[in-house]
Amino acid sequence: MRQKSLICIIFFSILLSFLLSLNPAAAEKKPPDVVTIKLEGAKLPPVIFSHPTHTEKAKLDCVTCHHKDTNPKEPESCLKCHPLKEAKDNAPLAKDAFHKKCQTCHKDSLSKGITAPTKCNECHKK
Ligand code: HEC
Ligand code: HEC
Ligand code: HEC
Ligand code: HEC
Repeated sequence: MRQKSLICIIFFSILLSFLLSLNPAAAEKKPPDVVTIKLEGAKLPPVIFSHPTHTEKAKLDCVTCHHKDTNPKEPESCLKCHPLKEAKDNAPLAKDAFHKKCQTCHKDSLSKGITAPTKCNECHKK
């Protein structure tokens, strides 16, 4: 009798976790379409970043940019680990992290004939 109820509990726990995994919200946090990136105290115009351009048009995986998240499908802000000043864990400061990540790929893309912004005022647009 005890064994039967134990099997029952195990069965329903498995069923429950399966049903939870079907919930799309649990599987992936939908990225905001447009993010206006502006560091505190920034002097240049902010950078308008579009997720659809990168995830749909350029077909990039989340982890390409959200590289250190324990779950890249539910990423956190880069600023969490890339602060404005006083770097920690060898992580470059925010400005350098953005420049390195964004510009390296755009330069590579240009060399493959895909137009992507590489000039200051193409990203820092008024
Ligand atoms: C080309 C780079 C790039 C790719 C690819 C990318 N993201 Fe992002 N994402 C960013 C940047 C940049 C930000 C804004 C950074 C910040 O606020 O520090 C951001 C912000 C976010 C945020 C808001 C984070 C917060 O709490 O501020 C979420 C959620 C997110 N992205 C989800 C995703 C998901 C899911 C995918 C894959 C489907 C994805 N991103 C693919 C660059 C990218
Ligand atoms: C959970 C912490 C964390 C988050 C969130 C994070 N990073 Fe990093 N990042 C690090 C650490 C730690 C390093 C140090 C080098 C390493 O271990 O790769 C690093 C290194 C880097 C580098 C240098 C790596 C190289 O190839 O030279 C870039 C560029 C970078 N991060 C960009 C970003 C961008 C852009 C975002 C947001 C889309 C982001 N990071 C989010 C922790 C994080
Ligand atoms: C791994 C490659 C890659 C990375 C990383 C990347 N981009 Fe891009 N980006 C592209 C490509 C490819 C295009 C051109 C897409 C197209 O129009 O076909 C593009 C286009 C753009 C455009 C112009 C089109 C638009 O949507 O306005 C902006 C602005 C832009 N990227 C900003 C950024 C910023 C800011 C970052 C860093 C947070 C970033 N990108 C990181 C590949 C990348
Ligand atoms: C591929 C896109 C891209 C290009 C090209 C680019 N940047 Fe940036 N830059 C960023 C992002 C994203 C940030 C972080 C958000 C912000 O602007 O505050 C940033 C931040 C900065 C900051 C710190 C914030 C501020 O406004 O004071 C400076 C300074 C800066 N960039 C200068 C430049 C200069 C100079 C050039 C040209 C040589 C350049 N950037 C080209 C994406 C880019």
